[in-house]
Order: sequence, then C-alpha cells, then structure tokens
Amino acid sequence: MTGLVYHVSPGGRLTGTLRVPGDKSISHRAIMLGAVAEGETHVTGFLEGEDCLATMRAFRAMGVTIEGPEAGRVRISGVGLHGLRAPAAPLDMGNSGTAMRLMAGLLAGQRFDSVLVGDASLSRRPMRRITEPLRRMGAHIDTSPEGTPPLHIHGGARLHGIDYAMPMASAQVKSCLLLAGLYAQGRTCVTEPAPTRDHTERMLRGLGYAVERSGLKVCLEGGGRLQGGAMDVPADISSAAFFLVGASIAAGSDLVLRHVGVNPTRTGVIEILRRMGGRIQIEHAHEAGGEPVADLRVEAAELQGIDIPESLVPLAIDEFPALFVAAACARGTTRLRGAAELRVKESDRIGVMAEGLQALGIEAEPLPDGIVIQGGTLRGGTVHSHGDHRVAMAFAMAALRAAEPVRILDCDNVNTSFPGFVSMARAVGLGIQEEPDGG
Ligand code: S3P
Repeated sequence: MTGLVYHVSPGGRLTGTLRVPGDKSISHRAIMLGAVAEGETHVTGFLEGEDCLATMRAFRAMGVTIEGPEAGRVRISGVGLHGLRAPAAPLDMGNSGTAMRLMAGLLAGQRFDSVLVGDASLSRRPMRRITEPLRRMGAHIDTSPEGTPPLHIHGGARLHGIDYAMPMASAQVKSCLLLAGLYAQGRTCVTEPAPTRDHTERMLRGLGYAVERSGLKVCLEGGGRLQGGAMDVPADISSAAFFLVGASIAAGSDLVLRHVGVNPTRTGVIEILRRMGGRIQIEHAHEAGGEPVADLRVEAAELQGIDIPESLVPLAIDEFPALFVAAACARGTTRLRGAAELRVKESDRIGVMAEGLQALGIEAEPLPDGIVIQGGTLRGGTVHSHGDHRVAMAFAMAALRAAEPVRILDCDNVNTSFPGFVSMARAVGLGIQEEPDGG
C-alpha cells in the first residue's frame, strides 16, 4: 500500500508568514471537556484534522449536539458529566492514541457500556498503561490478549480515587486518569516521572474545576462540575516543528509562524534546535485562552550535532521525526537516548526514521531507546512513511537539502494532524506535489 504519494523537488528555501492549524492535543480536549461541561462551549482555532473529527463524531454518537467545525469554530452544547448517552455502535477513534486513551478514562465512569476501536496502527498500540491503573480505580475494561484495542468498557463501575505513580512520562495516561477521577469517589492523584504537557489540567481549571499541583504530582477530587465557556486553540507547535526544521536547514530561509502555542511543556523542539545552533526568536509572547502563545521567527542556520538531554524528551516527544532530519543536516553526530516511547507512537518512529534516513544516504543507527545520526549529504530517493503523518512531513522537509527529489509513500494520514499541509508548504517555498494514489 503506497496510498497518497508526495513528490518533493530538491532544494529551495522557506520564506514568508504562515499560521499552521490548531493544536491537536488541545482540540481533542476542547471537544471532550466541552461535551461533559454544563452549558455552551465555543471553540475557535479548532483543528479540523481526522483525529479530532473522530473525537467529535464519538461525542455526537453519545448524544452531544456539536455545531461545526466551520473555519475552526465549533459550538458544543454540553450535557454535563452525567448526560452522555450509550452509543449505538463501537466508537471509531481512527489513528488517534490521544482520543482512545483519554476517552477510555471518561467512559470508565459512565453507566453504559462502550467499545473503542481504531485503525491498524492504533490497534497495535499499548493500552495496558491505562487499563491497569483504571482497573485499580475500579473500572471494568477488556482489551485483546496483547493489551491492545479494541477496548470494551463496562458501564456502571463505581470508581474510587487512587494515588498513582506513572511508570512512563505520558500526558495521555495522566489525562486519562484525571478524566476518570472526575467520576471517582475521593481524590485521584497522578505523579509523573518528568513533566508532560499540562493542557488537561489547564483546561479543567479554565472550566472551573479545582486541580492541585505540587511538583510532579497532580490531584483532583471527584464529584465536581465543569462550566462551559470560550476556548481558543493556538496553532500546533508540533505542526510548526516541520517548518522550524525546514527553515533552519534550508539556506536563505526566513519564516514567521504565527500564534503558535508555546506552553513550556511543549517547547523542547525550540530548545533542541537552539542547542544545535538554530536561530529561532520568540516574538509577541502573550497568553490566550489559558495557554502561552507567540510568533516564532526562524532563519536558516548552520546546525551542529548534539547529545540531546534526556530531560527534553517528553517536552519534544512528537517532534523527533523532524529533529532527526535536522540532525541529518547538521555537522557531526546527534545522539538521542531515553526515548523508547518513540517506538510505540503512530509508527515505530526510531525504526521507521532510521530506515528512511538510510534510504536517503544518511548514517543512522537505531538503538532500543534512541538513535545515533551522523550529519551528512542527503541523496534523495524513496522513503516509506508507514502511514505516520509526522514521518511523512519530516521527510518532505528533508528534500530542502537533498541532491535529488524525495518521494514519500503512504501520506494519507497527514490529514490526521495537518490538513492543508501541501498547499501551506508550497506557499512558503517547498516544491511539494501530491499524487492521489501510488497504487
Ligand atoms: C499527547 C500526548 C503524547 C503525544 C501525543 C499527544 C496528548 O503522547 O505523543 O501526540 O495529547 O496528551 P504520550 O502521552 O503517549 O507520550
């Protein structure tokens, strides 16, 4: 299966100004929290990508009236924490691990049964990381014998709060348990081994729900209420990341990315690129809708390979496909360790990126929990994205420094997080074309 194919001409530079689509993590949460809040929630800047549309469909299937999306605007008529209705069929979360894991927490506290299914990639992803603590809270959930989807969630369970130390740094697990905690008797606490994105905590507070944090521990009491309101979704730094890398590696580039979410739990990509010698300026920083937002100006730079500090891994977890392309264009060696989580994303991002970089003539040695990349000369050629949106977009940027065209297979899933990627990338100078079906 080659699906949609990208053909990207070698060379070029990125210039101009653009606003990439809305943040995926925040858009999912806006639908979920707006649905179980009381009263209306108005969302602006919503990401109209397949992943978030799947979340929207799931809540409609549970009786929630949602208008839109129209130009990023969504209106949700919240039904309150106990107003969801039993869906008539399994809820299809498509490619989205965030949707499935967060929804599992929310659904574990309902009176009705539900089933969560996903596409081939999501059906391979590990779910024990959520089912195990949810069971400790009293939830009844079945998975496949391998601990993968579908998830069968049995309604009517009486949940109670737990004090959980997460074995891995995962905002999805943390958020899943906090959402289940809304329905639990008593106090639910989650301690993370390292800081992860805190959108759930911020948004719960924004809707009037008390969430306490002390150090790496976050707690809430069950039995409260959420009050609907306005939510503004900033542009997704994870989508901006492809352009931060593209403009950094392509001589003569000077690009401004507008209204990007720069929550400190998400800005590892800026920090890593700067440590590599990247020239990124944060301009017009302000707060919008409870999240820090800024314009990012990026100019071409001579990048150097670095040892990426492990502490930055959770803060850049989705940006490594793009960062590996930056490493391939840097002088010297880049080493990443402590990133085994990359092997269980939409694809095995260590294996798949190593294979693609090698196909383009770069020395890349995969490790169980990381990769070693020698900066070099990109030849061009054909790479397989393995249906992973971020792999596809990362390799599209690699063409800016390739000697020959880069052809990328299986790019349909770019629509999960970045609808309009091809036209936006073309508008700022990438020589990218798409071919409907490679057969
Ligand atoms: C997300 C958390 C991260 C990230 C994913 C979105 C979220 O996953 O990779 O794309 O919205 O909470 P993990 O929590 O599994 O690291």
